[in-house]
Parts: sequence; C-alpha cells; structure tokens
Amino acid sequence: MQSSVRTHMESPPVNVRPQVPSPDAATSPAALHPMAAPAVAVSVEKLSAYYGKMQAIHEITLDVQKQNVTAIIGPSGCGKSTFLRCLNRMHEIIPGAHAEGMVLLNNEDIYAPTMNPVILRRRVGMVFQKANPFPSMSIYDNVASGLKLAGRVPKRHLDEVVERSLIQAALWAEVKDKLKQSAFDLSGGQQQRLCIARAIAVQPEIVLMDEPASALDPISTLKIEDLMRELRNEYTIIIVTHNLQQAARVSDWTAFMLGAEDRIGHLIEYAPTTKMFTAPSDQRTEQYISGRFG
Ligand SMILES: Nc1ncnc2c1ncn2[C@@H]1O[C@H](COP(=O)(O)OP(=O)(O)OP(=O)(O)O)[C@@H](O)[C@H]1O
Ligand SMILES: [Mg+2]
Repeated sequence: MQSSVRTHMESPPVNVRPQVPSPDAATSPAALHPMAAPAVAVSVEKLSAYYGKMQAIHEITLDVQKQNVTAIIGPSGCGKSTFLRCLNRMHEIIPGAHAEGMVLLNNEDIYAPTMNPVILRRRVGMVFQKANPFPSMSIYDNVASGLKLAGRVPKRHLDEVVERSLIQAALWAEVKDKLKQSAFDLSGGQQQRLCIARAIAVQPEIVLMDEPASALDPISTLKIEDLMRELRNEYTIIIVTHNLQQAARVSDWTAFMLGAEDRIGHLIEYAPTTKMFTAPSDQRTEQYISGRFG
C-alpha cells in the first residue's frame, strides 16, 4: 500500500494545537511533574486515514509532549486505534489502507521514503488490548526478542536488559525465579506487563497502548496504571482508553475524538487532562465526559 504525504497545507488546521508552555500547561500535572520536559515527541499535522475509500479519521492535528502520558478517549468506532496505528505505520499493513498528512517523530518525518518502517516500529512500540506474548517463547525470550532481532547481543547484556525491563514493568519480583518458563504460564495481568516489558526492552521513544487494561481485573488494572505513571519518567506514552477515570488518573494530556455526522473521526478537543475533565471547552466533550453519550 502507499502512504501519501502532504507537506503543503492549503487551509488552516481545523483542530487545536496546544501551545507549550501555555497557561493550561502551567497547571497541568505535566508541569508539576519534575521530569516533564517541555518538548514535543510527536507532532501530528492534518492526519487522515482511510480503509480503501472509507475515511476513518479526518485531519487530526496535535503535538504529543515528551515524557507525558497522553490519553485518547472517544466513543467506539471514532478512530482511536486507527490514529494510534498511524503513529508507527502499522495502519499501512492493512490491505487497502493508507494515511495522509504528516507525523514527525522527534522532528523526523515517519512517512519519508527514507524511513524504514521496521526500525520505526522499534522506536514507536505498541501494546495491545489483548496480551500477546510469543507463545513458543519463555518469559526471558519474550523480553529479549526485540534485541535479538536487532542483531547479536552478548548474553550478559541481554540478561541486564531483561532484568531492567521486567523491573520497569513491575514484574521482576513475580517472575525472576521462572524466567525459562513459558510466557503462557503467567496470568492475564502478568502477561500484559510482560508485553510492556517486551515493548520497553528496546528503549523506544514512544510506547503506544491500545486499551491495555480493558481485559484485566481491577488489581491488575491499577498495577498497569501505576506502571504508566512510573514509565513516563523515561518514556512518552500514548494510551487509548474507554475508562474515563483511568484517563483522568494516569494522563497529563487528553485528546477527545468523535465521529462526526459523516461517521469520520475528528479531534474535538485536546487539552491538559485536568482542564479537560473540569472545564472542557467544547460542549460535546462536556456531554461525553458526563456520560451523556458514547
Ligand atoms: N481493518 C479495518 N478495515 C476496515 N475498516 C476498519 C478497520 N479497522 C477499523 N475500521 C473502521 O474504521 C473506523 C474506526 O475504527 P477504529 O478501530 O479506529 O475505532 P476505535 O475508536 O478504536 O473503536 P473502539 O473503541 O471500538 O476500539 C470504524 O468505522 C471501523 O469500522
Ligand atoms: Mg480501538
């Protein structure tokens, strides 16, 4: 499939682009977070995505802040997963699918012909709704798999990376004595933390998470939420969630998407999470977060 890139914008962006620093940012958890750097990790400009002729998202423009958690919320079918997949070019794997617009990862155009999508996906890791550890691999090999793919790595270095990643994913204490066992011996919540460990083992610049806790029990969900807050010291995280309390608890910024009358997903509002949940600018955001639709 082809991904076309528009670099010249004829009309002004329809969506909001928050300025940083802004008065809102000054009161956001991000600004209060000592590690938060006022820098942009991903800059999205007029991003549209299609499945064949069907347009799924329309001209989304936003900047994702480094070392922050950004939540994407909105009703089912509004294009949240599609948007996420466009950020590491997984969208284009779907037959007939393509994207238009611009996505800059730390100022690099991810749709440039020189960008290798395989390397890009190492830089922009992904965790899915359903934990998907590699079934034939041990816990250790699951975490080490990304590094092994990248080339020969000394065993001692692999050991270090596996341990560090499992510690960061808050799983080390539970698995350190059974690293050679199958990943399938773990519970659902543990498998999801293993997938997070696998994603961060290659030290990506961004971690995309598509409803990572929606299949988990409340305790495992809280563990994943704690983990996200911890990980943002080092990583930039973008999470799709249907759980508004979760978005409010874990994220610094929130993007609200909505399918318009044409059923194409638009970005309605993008703001620091505290503002989004206390004083949204758009009436539709207000209706959605107060549970009046979706
Ligand atoms: N592989 C696909 N092929 C064709 N159309 C698709 C595909 N994946 C998604 N779509 C369509 O694109 C639109 C957006 O879907 P998407 O999965 O991005 O929404 P979503 O906001 O993630 O929804 P949910 O909250 O249910 O996960 C929907 O109309 C959907 O039917
Ligand atoms: Mg989805």
